[in-house]
Amino acid sequence: MGYNCDFVAWFDYIGGSGVVGINHEYTNPELMFSNYSADHATRRQVDYEIAAHGVSMLLVVRRPAAQGGGYRHYPHTILNRRIHGETRIFLTGPVAGHSLLRTSSDPYGTTVNGTFNNCGGGVTPWGTYLTAEENFDQYFANNSGVTNEMAKVANTRFGVRDEGGRRPWSRFHRRFNLNYEPNEINKFGWVVEIDPFGPYTVPKKRTALGRFKHEAAATTLSAVGNAVVYSGDDARFEYVYKFVSTGTYDGNKRHADSLLDSGTLYVAKFNDDGSGEWIPLVHGEGPLNMSNGFASQADILLFPRQAADLLGATQMDRPEDVDINPVTNKVYVALTNNTRRGAGSEDAANPRAPNPMGHIIEITEAGDDNGATQFQWEIFMLCGDPADEAQGTYFAGFDTSRVSKIANPDNLAFDKNGNLLIATDGQPRSVGINDGVFFVPTEGAERGFNRQLFSGVVGAECASVIMNTAQDLMLVSIQHPGERGTRLERISSFGGDVVNRPTVVAVTRTETPYRIGA
Ligand code: FEO
Ligand code: CA
Ligand code: CA
Ligand code: CA
Repeated sequence: MGYNCDFVAWFDYIGGSGVVGINHEYTNPELMFSNYSADHATRRQVDYEIAAHGVSMLLVVRRPAAQGGGYRHYPHTILNRRIHGETRIFLTGPVAGHSLLRTSSDPYGTTVNGTFNNCGGGVTPWGTYLTAEENFDQYFANNSGVTNEMAKVANTRFGVRDEGGRRPWSRFHRRFNLNYEPNEINKFGWVVEIDPFGPYTVPKKRTALGRFKHEAAATTLSAVGNAVVYSGDDARFEYVYKFVSTGTYDGNKRHADSLLDSGTLYVAKFNDDGSGEWIPLVHGEGPLNMSNGFASQADILLFPRQAADLLGATQMDRPEDVDINPVTNKVYVALTNNTRRGAGSEDAANPRAPNPMGHIIEITEAGDDNGATQFQWEIFMLCGDPADEAQGTYFAGFDTSRVSKIANPDNLAFDKNGNLLIATDGQPRSVGINDGVFFVPTEGAERGFNRQLFSGVVGAECASVIMNTAQDLMLVSIQHPGERGTRLERISSFGGDVVNRPTVVAVTRTETPYRIGA
């Protein structure tokens, strides 16, 4: 397994078994290696870190009740697979082959080694795993070496330093040093598609979905069968996007292989009156032309943040996960926080300045069609501690005296009945409790009745939650236990001299009826 587990997905296999897809967002070398120092990092340590990134696919099988029940990992199958920081991946779609993707090891601009900083993701209707590259800027150093002006400005906005970098990787691998390889970074910031049942297939970065700090890749079909992928760009004042494919899915997985390679990328505008629109990012339309530096559609997909700025999209409070209610088709956006939103810069969709607690927006697409270009939206939840009236919490109108406090919604998932599961990232700082998993009905009399299901451990976020198809298994990824000053010697919940590690926790149901909510 890799490190720092984040997005978890379940793919049904035989007899209740399943392939679990898990991505590994980043590494904490200070927790992985004893006496680690960035100034004295070794190549061996860096290579361990590169190998600990990426994605794992693991087959898990049911264990008979006589053996304790639950699930266990099944080692004897080629379905178990690691995709890491050196795995060969193809770039497909409109940006493949672009001059800004060409490097000394890849003169055609169509391949890349590895995937980094995968945060959220999604599962497609045809059964593939989508994983979203988020804070890829942290691996690269020396933005001063980039000569393309648009790329340089984009890198700065992503967080790349002009001189040096935040990790020592570029000391051992030239491709992370922009002085030598100014285009390598442009191969990151994409959504990657992986076939969990194709262990020998090459993963593909789908450039038609745009390049930004992708948090999510929630996928469904439009009313007429187009693939629709929602994604947040997780940074302060960035945007929410949606991709709609040109082609439609006909139910044959093989025909879906290039579905995500052509389509329209839209960015969300949330009007103060509760209406909203998906604005297309199409070359030649409006300001998206050469006078603003966009020579082609590929340029727009490489730098969609700059294109969205020109279109008046709504700047959000860090869009983390986006997910789709399977019963109603409504779309939920987790805005985790924005402590930098200043007084006077509030809008109806981001109503708090500052916003340390976060909130969730509910989108109803026109005609309940996820392919629509118009929508209505409302605030579903204003997070915080409802006992503190000054925080102005709101739980879809439900009695706030009965709900669990919650803050910093990050990852979202749904059960089959349309109940929302929320995993949090940041509660110790905002409401003083460990991060956890919460359960909220979205329809009916209990709409907004938020209840805590699960608590994580000190220094860890609950990065992702998912249920299997039978809904007798809930998987929760526990990421970076011990980070940020809660080093292992201070983690009392583990006791003694135990090395804390990221993991995925399995919670199995022991009672048959599953009846909460709708
Ligand atoms: Fe990796 Fe946006 O959390
Ligand atoms: Ca996240
Ligand atoms: Ca999700
Ligand atoms: Ca987060």
